Amino acid sequence: MRMVDLIEKKRDGIRLTEEEIRWIVEKYVDQEIPDYQMAAFLMAVYFRGMAEEEMVAFTAAMAESGETVDLSSIPGIKVDKHSSGGVGDTVTLVLVPLMGAAGYVMAKLSGRALGHTGGTIDKFEAIPGVRTELSREEILAQARKIGVVIAEHTHDIAPADKLLYELRDVTGTVPSLPLIVGSILSKKIAGGADLIVLDVKCGDGAFMRTFPEARELAETLVRVGNRLGKRFSALVTAMDQPLGRMAGNALEVQQAIEVLRGEGPEDLRDVTLALGAELLLLAGEEQNEGNAKEKLARLLDSGAAWEKFVELVAAQGGDVACVEEPERLPRAEEVVEVPAPRSGYVLKLSARKIGQAAGLLGAGRERKGQAVDPAAGVELLAKVGDEVVEGEPLARLHVGRKERTAEALALVASAFEIGPKPPPKGELILARIKE
Ligand code: URA
Repeated sequence: MRMVDLIEKKRDGIRLTEEEIRWIVEKYVDQEIPDYQMAAFLMAVYFRGMAEEEMVAFTAAMAESGETVDLSSIPGIKVDKHSSGGVGDTVTLVLVPLMGAAGYVMAKLSGRALGHTGGTIDKFEAIPGVRTELSREEILAQARKIGVVIAEHTHDIAPADKLLYELRDVTGTVPSLPLIVGSILSKKIAGGADLIVLDVKCGDGAFMRTFPEARELAETLVRVGNRLGKRFSALVTAMDQPLGRMAGNALEVQQAIEVLRGEGPEDLRDVTLALGAELLLLAGEEQNEGNAKEKLARLLDSGAAWEKFVELVAAQGGDVACVEEPERLPRAEEVVEVPAPRSGYVLKLSARKIGQAAGLLGAGRERKGQAVDPAAGVELLAKVGDEVVEGEPLARLHVGRKERTAEALALVASAFEIGPKPPPKGELILARIKE
């Protein structure tokens, strides 16, 4: 087989066989196909797309390109979740202990902050002492002992994704449906769970900005994922404004703790319960979405999920005193308020801008490998629909990188659109996609 022939085939819109797709992925991971040919292939896929059969072969080849996590020796139903990335999306820190409290095994492999979106690993590590770089043996032992784990995605799991993602990032080929499908699903399939719920974010702060795009991605993910022997379901959820009221690592931990204690922002609680309910339905434990949500809500309100979170933090070396008394979590030395320029109602609040501002303040990275500041971020005092008064604070900046304060302040101020009348209430869960 010659790569140039396969590039030409895709360029001309001719479907590739399973064997050809597997060959491309394998040879690229083995460094036998150079980046310039792979880049040309990715661009051909970007313009020509892939048929469903091709996506199935591509995803399977990526999932099999490295090690897989084998959870089969652990008793119980193994569940997993993936979010396509958002701002203030602290769902994983709540959902993992919640599913653990419900009796499921959830060994979640997560990533770090990417662009304007936060990363679960950076958030979890904001708790002093928490260790997320776990070996496969440690992941399995902890899952067996307490049912829950949050560990960093190691690069030996679906290595094709890491290589391809880096190349896509610099060749303008990230927003391609088949490439996103392969990237997301290969990691989930290699992660070892039986039942997986996907949270496809939609809106200004998400990868998929429009509802038709997000729904098509969610439907394709579920169809292709189910053909690969796992059971998937997906929600499309709104990401026009940030979820909750915090964007930043320790700030989001603080917010997750509130939800785990039966309090906290309603939208974060609702998305978490909706995703958890999908898992109970997939598992056949409940037939009805409302009952599934109620069951999980009781675990939040009773403190059972909170106790599982404390167990999780302790198992990974975290300082339990810092989660029991969240005021002991890392705090910024400098907090700057962003005043409302006029009185009225918040009509829009750009999640993308808030995410970018949190990143500038130190919650994210501007260069690969840069350390994040666990205390930095943006705290929102007003969200869409809230009434605000001129001169009163709309948000607080928790400053890590002082030299970026002015830029972050301007971004946060421009993220708010204020008008004279309250806007119509938007939906949070935009669609449920089932098998
Ligand atoms: N998230 C991923 O993991 N991969 C993509 O390609 C896009 C979002």
